Amino acid sequence: MQIIKNVFARLLQYISISCIICTLLSASGYSQNIQEGSVPKLVKQGISTQLIVKGKPFLMLAGELGNSNASSLDYLKLLWPKLSKMNLNTVLAPVYWEFIEPTEGKFDFALVDGLIEQARNNQMHLVLLWFGSWKNSMSCYTPLWVKKNQSRFPRIKTKAGITREILSPFSEENLKADIRAFSALMKHIKDIDEKENTVLMVQVENEIGLKPDARDYSTLAEKVYQNEVPAEVIKLLKTKRESLNPALRKLWEDAGAKESGSWAEVLGTGLYAEDMFMAWYYARYINKVAEAGKAIYPLPMYVNAELNRPERKPGEYSSGAPLPHSMDIWKHATPSIDIMSPDIYDPDFIGWTQKYDQPGNPLFIPEATLNPQTAVNAIYAIAQHKALGFSPFAIENADSTCSALMAGSYQLLNQLKDLILSKQNENIMAAALLDKDNPRKQAKIGKYMFEFAHDYTFKWSAGAKKTGPWPVTGGMVIQIAPDEFYVVGNGIIVTFSPAQANGELVGIGYVEEGKLINGRWIPGRRLNGDEDHQGQHVRIVESGIDIQRVKLYNYQ
Ligand code: DGJ
Repeated sequence: MQIIKNVFARLLQYISISCIICTLLSASGYSQNIQEGSVPKLVKQGISTQLIVKGKPFLMLAGELGNSNASSLDYLKLLWPKLSKMNLNTVLAPVYWEFIEPTEGKFDFALVDGLIEQARNNQMHLVLLWFGSWKNSMSCYTPLWVKKNQSRFPRIKTKAGITREILSPFSEENLKADIRAFSALMKHIKDIDEKENTVLMVQVENEIGLKPDARDYSTLAEKVYQNEVPAEVIKLLKTKRESLNPALRKLWEDAGAKESGSWAEVLGTGLYAEDMFMAWYYARYINKVAEAGKAIYPLPMYVNAELNRPERKPGEYSSGAPLPHSMDIWKHATPSIDIMSPDIYDPDFIGWTQKYDQPGNPLFIPEATLNPQTAVNAIYAIAQHKALGFSPFAIENADSTCSALMAGSYQLLNQLKDLILSKQNENIMAAALLDKDNPRKQAKIGKYMFEFAHDYTFKWSAGAKKTGPWPVTGGMVIQIAPDEFYVVGNGIIVTFSPAQANGELVGIGYVEEGKLINGRWIPGRRLNGDEDHQGQHVRIVESGIDIQRVKLYNYQ
């Protein structure tokens, strides 16, 4: 009996010590990181922001499905082998309001369940795209009971008084209906995925913004337009004046930097002022949708933007969209949105990545053109801008060339991701995208300067004799030891020099081709002679995405 008592007392002691440890750990926030089913979250670590999934940083090597491909589970089922072959770890897939709430207040999550189940069966994560009130400015994904009840769910009107199939962001009833559906979706995801974390993030609506006019002319909108500009907007203009985007600041100052008045009085009457007006009210609407969803299940949430071109005016591009010139307005209006993302179909990939990689706005590219250049764009975004992820659009349509290039790019990024993510606050990476107009780029890592050059700058390259534009090529250099680097990419030549002139020169010790398997370097041929230009450069030819390892040394 005494023995049993002793064992029991020991057990109690052990349980209470464990409880104290658990309490201390959870108070310190530590247990959150190691818990199996903790909610995916964005965490700012030094100068980078990372997506933390089950306590570990996660890099989204992704692709977005074509719009209609998640509307039939039989159709969807056929796509996964191709996505897996391209080495994706994440798929961006739509959730359609018309499907989840076909009858008002009655929810049907069969498609969402099927999507999640198929993703899990294929070891894939998901980012869900909420096709709710708006999809590319239109409201085509609203259920029929919304579409048919115009008086309850008001639409925007053009300047000419024509109604369009676009819900007005000025209607409380529209907002209420969207919030209810989105909240039901988030509750469902929480119920079925809180432990697994298949779903990593949610995009709220899709490419918001108004066309063809720069603003809504419905009665509801007109009233708000004539009203006083909200105090929060005035506060933003006043307190952030010095750092405001120059376009917004100019609008305000040209109109007399007023501290009260209607929208036309405070920002002027032009199209760009109307763009800011729409930006504020779209953003407020989206924020309320996101806020309601996060209150139920706080996944990271973002919005995506159709990008403008300099020659296009508001209304020709989506007026009110989260574009660089209206980012201040958007940021101020959307504390519940974590990221504003660019959909990059424009050839100026370098320019747009720069514009969206801003303090407080980590880069995530949910859509990008799918062409042979896309594979190096992925490397560039991740190495140059610490992007959280990259996702070409309609990835399932990749032809054999693009599939092979994407597979190569994602395979290598997948092998390198632990190194990339563990050292994002150290300067161990440099990247370049090169073409005929920008054939060279220099970057410094540690004690070395690297010059990236387009393969066609090398006179023995087959492409050097080609006339016309050069294909975009590029890649990255990543440090693995003080004098050792991987060079990854295609169509690039990399040369080396000292970062500081100290009388020393830099030579190539050796270069190897090889493979990364489970993070380990398996060397292939030693590349010397013609392959490294007799010890003078590292060259990855244009045929595919490849990796080489180089050891440098110094001499006088
Ligand atoms: C951008 C949209 O966000 C996508 O849903 C799709 O419509 C593409 N454009 C088509 O290029």
